[in-house]
Amino acid sequence: MQKDAIHGVWKHHSAQWAQVGSPLRPTEEDTRIMLMLSAPAFSINEDISSVVVLGVTPEVVQLPWPLHTHVVAYDHSADMIASVWQPHFQNPSSVQQVRWQSMPLSDESVDLVIGDGCLSVLPCADDYRGVFAEVARVLKPPGRLVLRCFLRPEQSESIADVVTAVFSGKIGSFHTLKWRVAMAIKPDLEFSVAVADIHAAFESHFPDRQQLAFSTGWSREAINTIDAYKGTDVRYTFPTMSELKPLLLPFFDIVEVRHGSYELAERCHILSLKPRLHIP
Ligand SMILES: C[S@@+](CC[C@H](N)C(=O)[O-])C[C@H]1O[C@@H](n2cnc3c(N)ncnc32)[C@H](O)[C@@H]1O
Repeated sequence: MQKDAIHGVWKHHSAQWAQVGSPLRPTEEDTRIMLMLSAPAFSINEDISSVVVLGVTPEVVQLPWPLHTHVVAYDHSADMIASVWQPHFQNPSSVQQVRWQSMPLSDESVDLVIGDGCLSVLPCADDYRGVFAEVARVLKPPGRLVLRCFLRPEQSESIADVVTAVFSGKIGSFHTLKWRVAMAIKPDLEFSVAVADIHAAFESHFPDRQQLAFSTGWSREAINTIDAYKGTDVRYTFPTMSELKPLLLPFFDIVEVRHGSYELAERCHILSLKPRLHIP
């Protein structure tokens, strides 16, 4: 992927961050579950603990971590760091412009790695392997990787199904519609879709934004967040659980899978993962 393309999509995203809502951003219920699943990572460590946040998602960075915890956030976008990063409200914290595939940390030096929606912003399966290998390297036992993951249902729906659902009042928020359109597009063999195709599919099936706003009650500002997806060559990935497992299991055991109770939560799984003892 082009470096400029990476920065381009996240530049748009950072500029409209306040307009983005659930399920793209985690709810309080999500972060409560994430914190609960993180607890075993801290249980036998009496000294200073360290948490790595993948990205700068404020709802995750600002969790009430144990007092002795140092929080460091890694994100490759200077724009996202400049507009979204806030230091933790009470714990020591810092941020660095870093790719998750190559973190400036020694082996087995971190108690917890946590992130929201991180896998979907990786463009292909190889990046999944790169991030899993790197996180498994830096976690010390009994460390955990806790991730909220956007997963396609095993049986995909069509975009026509999504359009029908919207106009029969069965989709509550524009961000849910955006994710249902994204997951209804036929992905390539590595479950990836071009972000520009999400925009194009939306434009062709919902050409009249005024009418969409009128029939759903959604604000034009929320609907216009789709324009961040226009004219970029970035790809997002939405694997099913069956597609994710073969990428994950060489590096991690799945300890627990939970999800919340909000709209589309059944596609927003929160995984607690433990590094395998013998990584190939
Ligand atoms: C944490 S993820 C998902 C956040 C949110 N749930 C959403 O959907 O917008 C978004 C962040 O990941 C960052 N990012 C994407 N790929 C990355 C990589 N390979 N290394 C570091 N940061 C990356 C982006 O810059 C962005 O700030």
